[in-house]
Amino acid sequence: MERVDKLLSNTGRWSRKEVRSLVKAGRVRVGDVVIRDAADKVPEESVLLVDGEAVRVETKVYLMMHKPSGVISSTEDPREKTVLDLLPESYRKQDLFPVGRLDKDTEGLLLLTNDGPLAHHLLSPRHHVEKTYFAEVEGTLQREDVDAFQAGIRLRDGTLCQAAGLEILSRHTALVTLQEGKYHQVKRMLASLGKPVLYLKRISMGKLRLDESLAPGEFRPLTQEERVLLGL
Ligand code: URA
Repeated sequence: MERVDKLLSNTGRWSRKEVRSLVKAGRVRVGDVVIRDAADKVPEESVLLVDGEAVRVETKVYLMMHKPSGVISSTEDPREKTVLDLLPESYRKQDLFPVGRLDKDTEGLLLLTNDGPLAHHLLSPRHHVEKTYFAEVEGTLQREDVDAFQAGIRLRDGTLCQAAGLEILSRHTALVTLQEGKYHQVKRMLASLGKPVLYLKRISMGKLRLDESLAPGEFRPLTQEERVLLGL
């Protein structure tokens, strides 16, 4: 059994507050029964109707988080605070995991879901899903750095990276776009050019962009439009 407000807000079409208004207005039904309280619980496979239209509710959850610095992108850890610790209890029972890892000190877009196939699609290098990061570095970024990124950076340990994008925004800031996700990749690529990263923030993953109105540590379900952008 699951709460009506949770099932409907998980679709991304309405916030919990909007669901409460819909329920108050008598616009939500299960079959012929009008739901009177948004906290009422119904079986998860119920067909909920809003204004008579059947809404596909599912137990797949997609949350956009603005990951703050200082938490790790794991599901649990004996010592460190994880991104899942930032979620309320109700979400913690839904087997969510972060899609890809951001370093403890990296901020920005993190998708949390329990949809394994979607995570695989977004992370597999075969699918060439671009991830874009805003980076601030020590040292001055130059045209040669853009060329080096385009040619494929060789990391200090000899690993060769695929061609990547570097768009210089100012002497010390740039957008880095990658299609792969090696360990500490952005930091290691820029370090190999002698420009150590001072600050890193992921701003997009495929067509999904970080909602800048989310403060670090905040999260929300993906909207219907964002789910479409991910092909859901
Ligand atoms: N590259 C890094 O170096 N760190 C991150 O957190 C993500 C990409």
